[in-house]
Amino acid sequence: MAEDLLIRKGSKQLQYETLYPQVEALVSVETDRVANMANMAAALKEQFQWLWVGFYLVKEDELVLGPFQGPVACTRIKKGRGVCGTSWAKAETLIVPDVEKFPGHIACSSLSASEIVIPIIKEGTVVGVLDVDSVLPDQFDETDKIWLEKMLRFIQW
Ligand code: SME
Repeated sequence: MAEDLLIRKGSKQLQYETLYPQVEALVSVETDRVANMANMAAALKEQFQWLWVGFYLVKEDELVLGPFQGPVACTRIKKGRGVCGTSWAKAETLIVPDVEKFPGHIACSSLSASEIVIPIIKEGTVVGVLDVDSVLPDQFDETDKIWLEKMLRFIQW
């Protein structure tokens, strides 16, 4: 099977509409979580050209770096720390238009300007987060929240 993505230009909504079934096709034929996280991160990075797209997984009292695309990143984040740890603690998606204004933001890359973090919830418990960073300010909104939350449901957590 060819694994090339069809990359769509246009509005964010159109880009997600094109990407969504392709990610579903990639992920639905595989049961391995790491493989699916890796491909989902790669597909999102390729479509949107964000600075960093990746997963952190809850291991005991920390988030530990999982599959990602982008520059090297911090490996462990405590609950309640940074955007990722706060999203975990609150079990809610956080949209940060300007990372400089988020108290306690963890700057893995000085190039990051805005960020969205989506918690991954299994049976009422947060088991990880999807973190996306952009070099541009104010890049994430309700459209990203809706589509990324939907996309995460493709993976069996
Ligand atoms: N900025 C995140 C840390 C992870 S990196 O962006 C990849 C945070 O504040 O939690």
